[in-house]
Amino acid sequence: MADTSNYDKLIIFDTTLRDGEQSPGVTLNADEKVEIARQLTRLGVNVIEAGFPVASPGDFNAVQRIAREVGSLMEGRTGKGRINEPVTICGLARCVENDIQTAYEAIREAPRHRIHVFLATSDIHLEFKLKITRSECKQRIREMVGFAKSLCEDIEFSPEDGGRSDREFLVEALTVAIEAGATTLNIPDTVGYNTPQQYGDLISYLREHTKGSENVVWSTHCHDDLGLATANTLSGVSNGARQVEVAINGIGERAGNTALEEIVMNVHTHPSAYKVQHTVDTKLLFATSRMVADLSGMSVQPNKAIVGRNAFLHESGIHQDGVLKHKSTYEIIRPEDVGVTSDNLALGKHSGRHAFKAKLDALGYGTPALPDAQFQSAFVKFKRLADSKKSGVTDGDLHALVADVRS
Ligand code: KIV
Ligand code: ZN
Repeated sequence: MADTSNYDKLIIFDTTLRDGEQSPGVTLNADEKVEIARQLTRLGVNVIEAGFPVASPGDFNAVQRIAREVGSLMEGRTGKGRINEPVTICGLARCVENDIQTAYEAIREAPRHRIHVFLATSDIHLEFKLKITRSECKQRIREMVGFAKSLCEDIEFSPEDGGRSDREFLVEALTVAIEAGATTLNIPDTVGYNTPQQYGDLISYLREHTKGSENVVWSTHCHDDLGLATANTLSGVSNGARQVEVAINGIGERAGNTALEEIVMNVHTHPSAYKVQHTVDTKLLFATSRMVADLSGMSVQPNKAIVGRNAFLHESGIHQDGVLKHKSTYEIIRPEDVGVTSDNLALGKHSGRHAFKAKLDALGYGTPALPDAQFQSAFVKFKRLADSKKSGVTDGDLHALVADVRS
Protein backbone atom coordinates (compact mmCIF):
# COMPACT_ATOMS: atom_id res chain seq x y z
CA MET A 1 0.00 0.00 0.00
CA ALA A 2 1.49 3.39 -1.04
CA ASP A 3 2.23 5.93 1.70
CA THR A 4 -0.16 8.79 0.93
CA SER A 5 0.43 10.80 4.12
CA ASN A 6 2.40 13.51 2.28
CA TYR A 7 -0.21 13.95 -0.41
CA ASP A 8 -2.65 16.88 -0.44
CA LYS A 9 -6.02 16.25 1.17
CA LEU A 10 -8.90 15.75 -1.23
CA ILE A 11 -12.05 17.24 0.28
CA ILE A 12 -15.03 15.01 -0.36
CA PHE A 13 -18.09 17.26 -0.65
CA ASP A 14 -21.19 15.09 -0.74
CA THR A 15 -24.28 16.53 -2.42
CA THR A 16 -26.52 13.43 -2.29
CA LEU A 17 -29.02 15.35 -0.16
CA ARG A 18 -29.07 18.46 -2.38
CA ASP A 19 -28.21 17.85 -6.05
CA GLY A 20 -28.88 14.11 -5.53
CA GLU A 21 -32.35 14.84 -4.23
CA GLN A 22 -32.97 16.89 -7.40
CA SER A 23 -33.13 13.56 -9.29
CA PRO A 24 -36.50 13.30 -10.98
CA GLY A 25 -38.77 11.18 -8.79
CA VAL A 26 -36.65 11.35 -5.64
CA THR A 27 -38.00 12.91 -2.48
CA LEU A 28 -36.60 12.14 0.92
CA ASN A 29 -38.34 13.10 4.15
CA ALA A 30 -36.45 14.75 7.01
CA ASP A 31 -35.95 11.49 8.96
CA GLU A 32 -34.51 9.80 5.88
CA LYS A 33 -32.20 12.73 5.21
CA VAL A 34 -30.92 12.68 8.78
CA GLU A 35 -30.32 8.91 8.52
CA ILE A 36 -28.34 9.36 5.28
CA ALA A 37 -26.38 12.27 6.76
CA ARG A 38 -25.41 10.11 9.75
CA GLN A 39 -24.16 7.40 7.42
CA LEU A 40 -22.19 9.97 5.38
CA THR A 41 -20.42 11.16 8.53
CA ARG A 42 -19.48 7.56 9.41
CA LEU A 43 -18.29 7.12 5.85
CA GLY A 44 -15.86 9.99 6.44
CA VAL A 45 -16.95 12.68 3.99
CA ASN A 46 -15.69 16.20 4.73
CA VAL A 47 -18.68 18.32 3.71
CA ILE A 48 -22.38 17.44 3.49
CA GLU A 49 -24.47 19.73 1.31
CA ALA A 50 -27.64 19.09 3.25
CA GLY A 51 -30.11 20.91 1.02
CA PHE A 52 -31.39 24.18 -0.41
CA PRO A 53 -33.05 25.71 2.68
CA VAL A 54 -35.05 28.44 0.94
CA ALA A 55 -36.68 25.89 -1.41
CA SER A 56 -39.36 24.82 1.10
CA PRO A 57 -40.06 24.71 4.85
CA GLY A 58 -39.43 20.95 4.65
CA ASP A 59 -35.98 21.49 3.16
CA PHE A 60 -35.18 24.13 5.78
CA ASN A 61 -36.28 21.81 8.59
CA ALA A 62 -34.21 18.88 7.25
CA VAL A 63 -31.06 21.00 6.88
CA GLN A 64 -31.52 22.46 10.37
CA ARG A 65 -32.02 18.98 11.88
CA ILE A 66 -28.88 17.72 10.13
CA ALA A 67 -26.91 20.71 11.46
CA ARG A 68 -28.20 20.03 15.00
CA GLU A 69 -28.21 16.22 15.07
CA VAL A 70 -25.31 15.28 12.79
CA GLY A 71 -23.02 18.32 12.79
CA SER A 72 -21.16 17.26 15.96
CA LEU A 73 -21.09 13.47 15.49
CA MET A 74 -17.68 11.81 15.64
CA GLU A 75 -18.83 8.16 15.40
CA GLY A 76 -16.48 6.29 13.07
CA ARG A 77 -14.46 9.44 12.27
CA THR A 78 -11.57 9.09 14.70
CA GLY A 79 -8.34 7.11 14.44
CA LYS A 80 -5.50 6.63 12.00
CA GLY A 81 -6.37 7.64 8.46
CA ARG A 82 -9.73 9.01 9.57
CA ILE A 83 -10.82 12.61 9.41
CA ASN A 84 -10.70 13.29 13.18
CA GLU A 85 -12.98 16.31 12.95
CA PRO A 86 -16.73 16.91 12.58
CA VAL A 87 -18.30 17.21 9.19
CA THR A 88 -19.03 20.64 7.67
CA ILE A 89 -22.75 21.18 7.03
CA CYS A 90 -23.45 23.27 3.95
CA GLY A 91 -26.60 24.95 2.65
CA LEU A 92 -27.12 26.16 -0.92
CA ALA A 93 -28.30 29.69 -1.77
CA ARG A 94 -28.84 31.72 -4.94
CA CYS A 95 -27.21 35.17 -5.05
CA VAL A 96 -30.24 36.55 -3.22
CA GLU A 97 -30.20 38.01 0.31
CA ASN A 98 -33.19 36.02 1.58
CA ASP A 99 -31.72 32.72 0.26
CA ILE A 100 -28.42 33.41 1.98
CA GLN A 101 -29.98 34.47 5.28
CA THR A 102 -32.26 31.39 5.23
CA ALA A 103 -29.36 29.05 4.44
CA TYR A 104 -27.41 30.57 7.32
CA GLU A 105 -30.29 30.10 9.80
CA ALA A 106 -30.53 26.44 8.78
CA ILE A 107 -26.84 25.55 9.13
CA ARG A 108 -25.60 27.86 11.88
CA GLU A 109 -25.93 25.34 14.74
CA ALA A 110 -23.42 22.94 13.21
CA PRO A 111 -19.95 23.54 14.68
CA ARG A 112 -18.63 23.72 11.12
CA HIS A 113 -20.92 25.31 8.60
CA ARG A 114 -20.67 26.69 5.10
CA ILE A 115 -22.88 28.75 2.78
CA HIS A 116 -22.68 27.78 -0.89
CA VAL A 117 -23.68 30.71 -3.10
CA PHE A 118 -24.14 30.33 -6.84
CA LEU A 119 -24.85 32.54 -9.86
CA ALA A 120 -24.69 31.60 -13.53
CA THR A 121 -21.89 33.14 -15.61
CA SER A 122 -22.41 31.71 -19.11
CA ASP A 123 -23.75 34.08 -21.75
CA ILE A 124 -26.60 31.64 -22.43
CA HIS A 125 -27.75 31.83 -18.80
CA LEU A 126 -27.12 35.58 -18.45
CA GLU A 127 -29.10 36.42 -21.57
CA PHE A 128 -31.98 33.94 -21.46
CA LYS A 129 -32.42 33.02 -17.81
CA LEU A 130 -31.17 35.86 -15.64
CA LYS A 131 -31.52 38.66 -18.22
CA ILE A 132 -28.58 40.58 -16.75
CA THR A 133 -25.32 41.85 -18.20
CA ARG A 134 -21.86 40.54 -17.31
CA SER A 135 -21.20 43.65 -15.29
CA GLU A 136 -24.47 43.22 -13.32
CA CYS A 137 -23.46 39.62 -12.75
CA LYS A 138 -20.15 40.66 -11.19
CA GLN A 139 -21.88 43.32 -9.09
CA ARG A 140 -24.33 40.74 -7.71
CA ILE A 141 -21.47 38.35 -6.89
CA ARG A 142 -19.63 41.10 -5.02
CA GLU A 143 -22.70 42.10 -2.99
CA MET A 144 -24.06 38.64 -2.22
CA VAL A 145 -20.78 36.82 -1.52
CA GLY A 146 -19.94 39.81 0.69
CA PHE A 147 -23.29 39.47 2.48
CA ALA A 148 -22.74 35.73 3.00
CA LYS A 149 -19.28 36.50 4.37
CA SER A 150 -20.80 38.87 6.93
CA LEU A 151 -22.67 35.86 8.37
CA CYS A 152 -20.21 33.00 7.99
CA GLU A 153 -16.46 32.47 7.52
CA ASP A 154 -16.64 29.45 5.20
CA ILE A 155 -18.07 30.59 1.84
CA GLU A 156 -18.18 28.63 -1.40
CA PHE A 157 -19.00 30.31 -4.68
CA SER A 158 -20.08 28.50 -7.87
CA PRO A 159 -20.36 30.12 -11.31
CA GLU A 160 -23.24 27.99 -12.60
CA ASP A 161 -22.69 26.67 -16.14
CA GLY A 162 -18.98 27.39 -15.64
CA GLY A 163 -18.17 24.69 -18.19
CA ARG A 164 -19.77 26.80 -20.94
CA SER A 165 -18.74 30.24 -19.65
CA ASP A 166 -16.23 32.52 -21.34
CA ARG A 167 -12.87 31.91 -19.64
CA GLU A 168 -11.79 35.53 -19.39
CA PHE A 169 -15.13 36.51 -17.89
CA LEU A 170 -14.94 33.59 -15.47
CA VAL A 171 -11.57 34.86 -14.26
CA GLU A 172 -13.10 38.31 -13.64
CA ALA A 173 -16.14 36.87 -11.83
CA LEU A 174 -14.05 34.53 -9.69
CA THR A 175 -11.61 37.31 -8.79
CA VAL A 176 -14.59 39.32 -7.52
CA ALA A 177 -15.80 36.29 -5.52
CA ILE A 178 -12.39 35.97 -3.85
CA GLU A 179 -12.25 39.70 -3.08
CA ALA A 180 -15.71 39.46 -1.50
CA GLY A 181 -14.63 36.59 0.78
CA ALA A 182 -15.13 33.23 -0.99
CA THR A 183 -12.84 30.51 0.35
CA THR A 184 -13.81 27.72 -2.06
CA LEU A 185 -14.36 28.20 -5.79
CA ASN A 186 -16.39 25.42 -7.36
CA ILE A 187 -16.53 25.09 -11.16
CA PRO A 188 -19.75 23.39 -12.26
CA ASP A 189 -20.00 21.66 -15.60
CA THR A 190 -23.71 22.08 -15.03
CA VAL A 191 -24.88 20.39 -18.20
CA GLY A 192 -22.13 17.75 -18.47
CA TYR A 193 -20.84 19.31 -21.69
CA ASN A 194 -17.06 19.29 -21.24
CA THR A 195 -14.53 16.67 -22.31
CA PRO A 196 -11.99 15.60 -19.66
CA GLN A 197 -9.29 17.56 -21.53
CA GLN A 198 -11.41 20.73 -21.67
CA TYR A 199 -12.46 20.52 -18.03
CA GLY A 200 -8.93 19.88 -16.76
CA ASP A 201 -7.62 22.76 -18.91
CA LEU A 202 -10.32 25.03 -17.52
CA ILE A 203 -9.36 24.29 -13.90
CA SER A 204 -5.70 24.82 -14.74
CA TYR A 205 -6.39 28.11 -16.60
CA LEU A 206 -8.57 29.50 -13.80
CA ARG A 207 -6.02 28.59 -11.13
CA GLU A 208 -3.31 30.28 -13.11
CA HIS A 209 -5.15 33.51 -13.98
CA THR A 210 -7.47 34.27 -11.06
CA LYS A 211 -6.05 36.79 -8.59
CA GLY A 212 -5.77 35.27 -5.11
CA SER A 213 -6.15 31.78 -6.54
CA GLU A 214 -3.57 30.28 -4.20
CA ASN A 215 -5.64 31.22 -1.13
CA VAL A 216 -8.76 29.28 -2.10
CA VAL A 217 -9.69 25.64 -2.59
CA TRP A 218 -10.62 24.78 -6.17
CA SER A 219 -13.49 22.36 -6.55
CA THR A 220 -15.10 20.22 -9.25
CA HIS A 221 -18.84 19.71 -9.84
CA CYS A 222 -19.51 17.56 -12.91
CA HIS A 223 -22.74 16.25 -14.36
CA ASP A 224 -22.95 13.02 -16.30
CA ASP A 225 -24.93 13.94 -19.42
CA LEU A 226 -22.24 12.47 -21.68
CA GLY A 227 -21.16 9.80 -19.20
CA LEU A 228 -17.98 11.76 -18.42
CA ALA A 229 -18.61 13.04 -14.89
CA THR A 230 -16.04 10.77 -13.24
CA ALA A 231 -13.42 11.31 -15.95
CA ASN A 232 -13.94 15.08 -15.84
CA THR A 233 -13.71 15.20 -12.05
CA LEU A 234 -10.47 13.21 -12.08
CA SER A 235 -9.11 15.51 -14.77
CA GLY A 236 -9.95 18.43 -12.47
CA VAL A 237 -8.05 16.74 -9.62
CA SER A 238 -5.05 16.15 -11.90
CA ASN A 239 -5.10 19.88 -12.63
CA GLY A 240 -5.13 21.01 -9.03
CA ALA A 241 -8.71 20.79 -7.76
CA ARG A 242 -8.67 19.71 -4.12
CA GLN A 243 -12.41 19.37 -3.51
CA VAL A 244 -14.76 17.11 -5.46
CA GLU A 245 -18.54 17.45 -5.40
CA VAL A 246 -20.07 14.00 -5.63
CA ALA A 247 -23.20 12.00 -4.79
CA ILE A 248 -23.69 8.43 -3.66
CA ASN A 249 -24.62 6.23 -6.65
CA GLY A 250 -24.11 9.32 -8.84
CA ILE A 251 -27.69 10.49 -8.33
CA GLY A 252 -28.61 14.06 -9.32
CA GLU A 253 -30.25 16.28 -11.93
CA ARG A 254 -30.92 14.47 -15.25
CA ALA A 255 -28.13 11.90 -15.79
CA GLY A 256 -26.77 12.69 -12.34
CA ASN A 257 -23.61 13.85 -10.62
CA THR A 258 -20.20 12.29 -10.28
CA ALA A 259 -20.48 9.13 -8.17
CA LEU A 260 -18.68 9.40 -4.83
CA GLU A 261 -17.71 5.73 -4.79
CA GLU A 262 -16.09 5.98 -8.24
CA ILE A 263 -13.89 8.94 -7.31
CA VAL A 264 -12.86 7.46 -3.98
CA MET A 265 -11.94 4.10 -5.49
CA ASN A 266 -10.08 5.73 -8.39
CA VAL A 267 -7.81 7.78 -6.14
CA HIS A 268 -7.56 4.78 -3.81
CA THR A 269 -6.52 2.44 -6.61
CA HIS A 270 -4.09 4.89 -8.25
CA PRO A 271 -2.67 6.97 -5.39
CA SER A 272 0.50 7.93 -7.19
CA ALA A 273 -1.43 9.07 -10.29
CA TYR A 274 -3.55 11.61 -8.40
CA LYS A 275 -1.34 12.31 -5.36
CA VAL A 276 -4.21 13.05 -3.01
CA GLN A 277 -5.40 11.39 0.18
CA HIS A 278 -8.96 10.94 1.39
CA THR A 279 -10.60 10.00 4.68
CA VAL A 280 -13.43 7.80 3.42
CA ASP A 281 -13.84 4.38 5.03
CA THR A 282 -14.14 2.48 1.75
CA LYS A 283 -15.57 -0.56 3.56
CA LEU A 284 -18.79 1.40 4.12
CA LEU A 285 -19.30 2.25 0.44
CA PHE A 286 -21.56 -0.66 -0.42
CA ALA A 287 -23.81 -0.29 2.64
CA THR A 288 -24.10 3.44 2.03
CA SER A 289 -25.00 2.84 -1.59
CA ARG A 290 -27.75 0.40 -0.56
CA MET A 291 -29.10 2.78 2.05
CA VAL A 292 -29.36 5.63 -0.46
CA ALA A 293 -30.92 3.34 -3.08
CA ASP A 294 -33.49 2.03 -0.57
CA LEU A 295 -34.45 5.40 0.85
CA SER A 296 -34.42 7.34 -2.41
CA GLY A 297 -36.13 4.65 -4.47
CA MET A 298 -33.42 5.09 -7.13
CA SER A 299 -32.12 1.58 -7.67
CA VAL A 300 -28.53 0.95 -8.71
CA GLN A 301 -27.99 -0.55 -12.17
CA PRO A 302 -26.52 -4.08 -11.81
CA ASN A 303 -23.36 -3.24 -13.77
CA LYS A 304 -22.69 0.04 -11.92
CA ALA A 305 -18.99 0.43 -11.13
CA ILE A 306 -18.01 -0.33 -7.51
CA VAL A 307 -21.51 -0.81 -6.02
CA GLY A 308 -23.55 -2.60 -8.71
CA ARG A 309 -24.83 -6.11 -7.95
CA ASN A 310 -22.59 -7.53 -10.67
CA ALA A 311 -19.49 -5.45 -9.90
CA PHE A 312 -17.69 -8.43 -8.36
CA LEU A 313 -19.46 -11.37 -9.98
CA HIS A 314 -17.76 -13.55 -12.55
CA GLU A 315 -19.96 -15.31 -15.07
CA SER A 316 -17.92 -16.88 -17.86
CA GLY A 317 -16.07 -20.14 -17.33
CA ILE A 318 -12.72 -18.61 -18.30
CA HIS A 319 -13.10 -15.81 -15.76
CA GLN A 320 -14.35 -18.15 -13.03
CA ASP A 321 -11.43 -20.46 -13.65
CA GLY A 322 -8.98 -17.54 -13.46
CA VAL A 323 -10.48 -16.11 -10.28
CA LEU A 324 -10.48 -19.52 -8.60
CA LYS A 325 -6.76 -19.80 -9.36
CA HIS A 326 -5.98 -16.25 -8.28
CA LYS A 327 -8.42 -13.41 -7.60
CA SER A 328 -6.16 -10.76 -9.12
CA THR A 329 -6.63 -12.32 -12.59
CA TYR A 330 -9.98 -10.56 -12.94
CA GLU A 331 -10.38 -8.38 -9.81
CA ILE A 332 -8.66 -5.00 -9.50
CA ILE A 333 -10.44 -4.15 -6.27
CA ARG A 334 -10.91 -6.56 -3.39
CA PRO A 335 -14.70 -6.75 -2.87
CA GLU A 336 -14.21 -6.59 0.91
CA ASP A 337 -12.45 -3.20 0.50
CA VAL A 338 -15.78 -1.67 -0.50
CA GLY A 339 -17.81 -3.71 1.99
CA VAL A 340 -18.79 -6.63 -0.23
CA THR A 341 -17.66 -9.85 1.39
CA SER A 342 -18.13 -13.12 -0.43
CA ASP A 343 -19.57 -15.86 1.73
CA ASN A 344 -20.79 -19.42 1.42
CA LEU A 345 -23.87 -19.06 3.54
CA ALA A 346 -27.04 -20.49 2.09
CA LEU A 347 -29.86 -19.20 4.23
CA GLY A 348 -32.98 -21.29 4.86
CA LYS A 349 -35.60 -21.93 7.51
CA HIS A 350 -33.11 -23.71 9.76
CA SER A 351 -30.76 -20.77 9.94
CA GLY A 352 -30.52 -18.89 13.22
CA ARG A 353 -29.87 -15.28 14.18
CA HIS A 354 -26.09 -15.68 13.93
CA ALA A 355 -26.11 -16.92 10.36
CA PHE A 356 -28.67 -14.29 9.46
CA LYS A 357 -26.53 -11.54 10.95
CA ALA A 358 -23.36 -12.84 9.28
CA LYS A 359 -25.18 -12.86 5.95
CA LEU A 360 -26.45 -9.30 6.42
CA ASP A 361 -22.94 -8.20 7.38
CA ALA A 362 -21.61 -9.89 4.24
CA LEU A 363 -24.15 -7.98 2.19
CA GLY A 364 -22.98 -4.71 3.74
CA TYR A 365 -25.76 -4.15 6.29
CA GLY A 366 -23.68 -4.68 9.44
CA THR A 367 -24.55 -2.66 12.49
CA PRO A 368 -24.62 0.25 13.08
CA ALA A 369 -26.03 0.63 9.55
CA LEU A 370 -29.00 -1.58 10.55
CA PRO A 371 -30.21 -0.66 14.05
CA ASP A 372 -31.22 -3.43 16.45
CA ALA A 373 -35.00 -2.94 16.19
CA GLN A 374 -34.80 -3.15 12.39
CA PHE A 375 -32.55 -6.21 12.65
CA GLN A 376 -35.06 -8.01 14.91
CA SER A 377 -37.94 -7.15 12.61
CA ALA A 378 -35.90 -8.28 9.58
CA PHE A 379 -35.17 -11.61 11.29
CA VAL A 380 -38.88 -12.29 11.97
CA LYS A 381 -39.72 -11.49 8.33
CA PHE A 382 -36.82 -13.66 7.13
CA LYS A 383 -38.14 -16.65 9.10
CA ARG A 384 -41.59 -16.24 7.58
CA LEU A 385 -40.09 -15.97 4.11
CA ALA A 386 -37.80 -18.96 4.62
CA ASP A 387 -40.80 -21.05 5.64
CA SER A 388 -42.64 -20.21 2.45
CA LYS A 389 -39.73 -20.64 -0.02
CA LYS A 390 -38.59 -24.05 -1.15
CA SER A 391 -35.55 -22.77 -3.02
CA GLY A 392 -33.93 -20.88 -0.15
CA VAL A 393 -33.64 -17.17 0.49
CA THR A 394 -31.60 -15.28 -2.08
CA ASP A 395 -29.46 -12.15 -1.65
CA GLY A 396 -32.12 -10.28 -3.66
CA ASP A 397 -34.76 -11.40 -1.14
CA LEU A 398 -32.59 -10.09 1.70
CA HIS A 399 -32.01 -6.71 0.03
CA ALA A 400 -35.78 -6.39 -0.46
CA LEU A 401 -36.39 -7.41 3.12
CA VAL A 402 -33.99 -4.80 4.50
CA ALA A 403 -35.54 -2.15 2.25
CA ASP A 404 -38.93 -3.17 3.67
CA VAL A 405 -37.92 -2.82 7.34
CA ARG A 406 -36.28 0.51 6.60
CA SER A 407 -39.32 2.01 4.87
O1 KIV B 1 -24.84 21.93 -11.47
C1 KIV B 1 -24.74 23.04 -10.93
O2 KIV B 1 -24.38 24.04 -11.55
C2 KIV B 1 -25.13 23.13 -9.52
C3 KIV B 1 -24.77 24.41 -8.83
C4 KIV B 1 -25.87 24.88 -7.95
C5 KIV B 1 -23.48 24.23 -8.08
O3 KIV B 1 -25.60 22.19 -8.95
ZN1 ZN C 1 -25.26 20.30 -10.10
